[in-house]
Amino acid sequence: MSTFSRDTEIFRDEDMLREDYQPESITAREEELEAYKTALQPVVNGAQPRNIFLYGKTGVGKTAVSRYLLTRLQQDTAQYDDVDLSVVWLNCTNLSSSYQVAVNLVNELREPDEQISTTGYPQQRVFDILYEELESIGGTILLVFDEIDHIGSDDEILYELPRARSNGYLESVKPGVIGISNDFGFRDELSPKVKDTLCEEEIHFPPYQAPELEAILQRRVDGALYDNATAAGVISLCAALSAQDTGSARQALNLLYKAGELARAAGESTIIESHVHEARDALEQSQIEHGMRELTRHGHLALVATLDLALQDATPARVRDIYPRYRTIAEHSDADPLVRRRMHDHLADLSMLGILDRWARNEGRAGGQYYEYEFKVDLTTVCEVVADFEGISLPDTVARHT
Ligand SMILES: Nc1ncnc2c1ncn2[C@@H]1O[C@H](COP(=O)(O)OP(=O)(O)OP(=O)(O)O)[C@@H](O)[C@H]1O
Ligand SMILES: [Mg+2]
Repeated sequence: MSTFSRDTEIFRDEDMLREDYQPESITAREEELEAYKTALQPVVNGAQPRNIFLYGKTGVGKTAVSRYLLTRLQQDTAQYDDVDLSVVWLNCTNLSSSYQVAVNLVNELREPDEQISTTGYPQQRVFDILYEELESIGGTILLVFDEIDHIGSDDEILYELPRARSNGYLESVKPGVIGISNDFGFRDELSPKVKDTLCEEEIHFPPYQAPELEAILQRRVDGALYDNATAAGVISLCAALSAQDTGSARQALNLLYKAGELARAAGESTIIESHVHEARDALEQSQIEHGMRELTRHGHLALVATLDLALQDATPARVRDIYPRYRTIAEHSDADPLVRRRMHDHLADLSMLGILDRWARNEGRAGGQYYEYEFKVDLTTVCEVVADFEGISLPDTVARHT
């Protein structure tokens, strides 16, 4: 008998539940699609494109809707000889400045053997190279900057590009910029001149409600799962749980995918509600682990200090008890300890991430309030994560558990 064989139950095409799957049709985004289409209409008419800014929380369809609609736009404008449309897509994750965006854009447009280095040019020179590249393409060029918030306040390029034609840097090109972001702070903090330019057309993607998530899931399930692979109520449960939590289609899809994996692993042919609950716990757990790993160095130090106390049964603990542990561990790890108030901010972050529980307590008659902290997650998990921290000298109690 072979060790591996194809699934004949549950998953028909599990790739359809994956992050990078591009759905052929968009469900439950009529208003946003309508607004987006209107904003893109000048392109169809061969006019100067408008600049568009899409924003909304993670997993609400900004990327999927853009890919869908821009593909359609390219197909539908092909019939007009006087519209020569190019769409250039750049994901700005890890690009922290306008300079880096410009360099990456140039390299996106150039052949692999003509790439420019990511450092060493003056900014204006890179912009000039970029204009040359765009000029050699010509026509209408839509530049899509996904995850644009990564450039932070260094947003010059969002001002320069849309104006490049009126400023005489571009002649045969009609440029349009589409910015996409899930960071509301970024939108609010754009410099006023960029805001005026980029946010000519703003489209907000609100979180999905349960019925919308259910429709999206249902559409996906039809191809991804075998008929009858889900028990009654499973899809609406995934939709309801995700709607209550984040309203993210990504979360809903992940939940269903994970539930399917659990059912498959258990050798069952149907996903039932308990798989969904288990899947939610598992995903929450891995999200929390991820959150712990992604903390800053001082976040890690504050975590280890609290863990040290927890392993000695000294939690719930007050900041005044955690702080000295933190200081010692920081000093042993060659880190400059923060002042107590700043370390306390890190504890507050840990509780916001769902890693610690915190309670406000009143100091008896004397008045005054203080906080107590305790782990909200399983200590074994914390120990496993902490064991991978680099450059932190773990106290004996903690080291013994890793
Ligand atoms: N309206 C929809 N119809 C069909 N699938 C959708 C819809 N909205 C989202 N999805 C699916 O949900 C997942 C997440 O969507 P998407 O990647 O577009 O989110 P996003 O808003 O770009 O999130 P982020 O800000 O994290 O990048 C994708 O797999 C996408 O295909
Ligand atoms: Mg996206």
